[in-house]
Parts: sequence; C-alpha cells; structure tokens
Amino acid sequence: LYDKAVLLLFDLFGLRRDAYDRFHNEETYLTDMNQTADFKRVILDYVTGTRILDIGPGGGVLLDLIEQERPDSKPLGLDISVNVIEALKRKKQLEHRRWDVIKGDALQLEEYVETESMDTVIFSSILHELYSYIERDGKRFNSQTVEAALHSAYRVLAPGGRIIIRDGIMTEPVEQRRRIRFLEPDGMEWLLRYAQDFAGRPIEIERIGEHEAVLPVNDAMEFLYTYTWGAEAYVHEVQEQFGYFTPSQYEECIRNTLGPQAIIRLSRHYLQEGYAEALSSRVEFMDEQGQPVPLPDSTCLIVIEKPNNRDEATK
Ligand SMILES: C[S@@+](CC[C@H](N)C(=O)[O-])C[C@H]1O[C@@H](n2cnc3c(N)ncnc32)[C@H](O)[C@@H]1O
Repeated sequence: LYDKAVLLLFDLFGLRRDAYDRFHNEETYLTDMNQTADFKRVILDYVTGTRILDIGPGGGVLLDLIEQERPDSKPLGLDISVNVIEALKRKKQLEHRRWDVIKGDALQLEEYVETESMDTVIFSSILHELYSYIERDGKRFNSQTVEAALHSAYRVLAPGGRIIIRDGIMTEPVEQRRRIRFLEPDGMEWLLRYAQDFAGRPIEIERIGEHEAVLPVNDAMEFLYTYTWGAEAYVHEVQEQFGYFTPSQYEECIRNTLGPQAIIRLSRHYLQEGYAEALSSRVEFMDEQGQPVPLPDSTCLIVIEKPNNRDEATK
C-alpha cells in the first residue's frame, strides 16, 4: 500500500520518468552502485574480445573500468531506464568517455544489437532484479525470466564469446538453519516486519527468545541483506530477492537453457566483502546449537562460453 501511495504521489507531481524509476533518490542509487567498483573489478579478468555489452550498466562503473583497462575495447551499455540512460549520456559527455549507451530490454537483446555480434555480455547485479520484478505467466520471482535473459544474451554472442554473471546466490544445503541474535534493540521488530513485507516467498521464523530467532539459512541471508542496507533502501529491498538459485541450480538452469554445447568456464561463489563487517556489531550469526558460524556465500561469478567450432562443442 505504501509503495502504491508513493507511486501515486510521484505520478501526481510528474516525478516518475518510467516504471523503472526508483522510489528514493535516483542520483543516490546510481552513486551507490558506482561505489562498488572494487567488487566488480573481478569481472574484468574474464572479459574477452573488444565488443563488450554491459546489461543494466546503472551508474556506469563497469563501462568506465572496461574502457580504462581494455583500451582496444568498445563497451556498450544497454539499460531499460530512461533516467539511467540520460544520466549516462551526461556522464559520457562530461568525462569524454569512449563507451556508448542505448536504451533497450535485456530480454530482447536481438532487437538492439546484431545476432552473434558481441564478444562479451555482462550481467552484473541485474538478473536478480529481472527475476524479482518481471512478471512471466502472471508471476514475478520466476526463473523463466532468467532463462529468457540467458537465451537472449547467447543469441547475440559471437562464437567463442562469453556471458559473465555476477549476482546473488543461495547457499547449499538449503535445509541448513541458522540462529540470529540481535545486538540492537529493534532488530527483532525489523525481522518480523520483513517477514510480512518480503514479496519473494514466505520467510520461516522460529522465535526462540526476545532477541533470537532460527530461520532456514537462505531466509536468514535474504533478511540480512536488507538489514545491512538499512531503512532507506527497505521499500525496494523487500521487493527484490537477491539469491534466486543455489550454485547447482544455476548450473542446471544454464545447461537446460543453453544446451550441453554451452561451456561453463567458471562457477565460483564467495561472501562479498563488507557484509561480515557491516553486520558484526548488529547480529550474532550461529548454527542451531548456538555456535558462531561464518556468513555463507552471497555472490556468484559465472562465466559461460559459446563454443568456437563443432570440436569444442563435443569436448
Ligand atoms: C542494480 S543495477 C546494476 C548496475 C550495474 N550493472 C552494476 O553492477 O553496478 C540494475 C540495472 O539494471 C537496469 N535494468 C532493470 N531491468 C532491465 C531490463 N529489463 N533491461 C535492461 N536493463 C534493466 C536498471 O535500470 C539498473 O540500471
């Protein structure tokens, strides 16, 4: 209801540019995305060729990095948001950037770029947004959306080209349960409100004390991401599911969608730097017996390659 009221106010005052506008300050959103440059640098190690397509470039952090580190490249950003495209065009002009941007939809890439024309297609922190926001068969949080995006990227990929995915991941085994003890007085209130508001799936909470609860590990993590980002991001964080597949579900999805000829060159997952530190003074994270345990992996880095020739496809 709150979301709808905010959107209505934005519409009334003509503040919304399109459906992809953010509820909170757009400039802050874009700047925040850019501050994570160091976390995204890892993608550069896997970029191949010179024709590089960055899907959903946001603040343009990756476009800048690719341009700096690959002087022979021609990075192209494709984003669906009018605001993002306009802000990037201003940035390009002000900073005399070589990269270019176009407005387009990640699910229909062939409409904007030629088939088999790209050496690298990058999805950095965007597939979880597509998964969360796009309705397919009347349903958000639908893995078919991720499949459609992968299909579309694979079609515009040249032989020998790569799709690079950096995004949220769920941990395995999914049956693990974790205990959270809040060190802040309003932590439990946050968790109970989150369980009501999270649009992705029901969150299972077993409350075992005033400040303690036990949850399935992936529910615990999904909550902790939102808790980390705080009140300002809450309205859109509860609409987004950050981890949508476990590593093995991701690999299965890639194989089922792109067929056995697509080569998974890398499938790595890790805990993104920053979460443990940001949460250490706010919660204790434990196994069911109350022993402190590390936070599980939050992020995956997956590299898929389109084979160059028939031989490679059968390797
Ligand atoms: C979380 S931001 C990711 C920014 C950037 N890739 C990064 O790693 O910093 C997601 C971006 O995807 C864009 N986006 C959302 N849906 C899209 C779609 N269907 N097609 C293209 N871009 C989309 C948003 O406008 C936003 O700029």
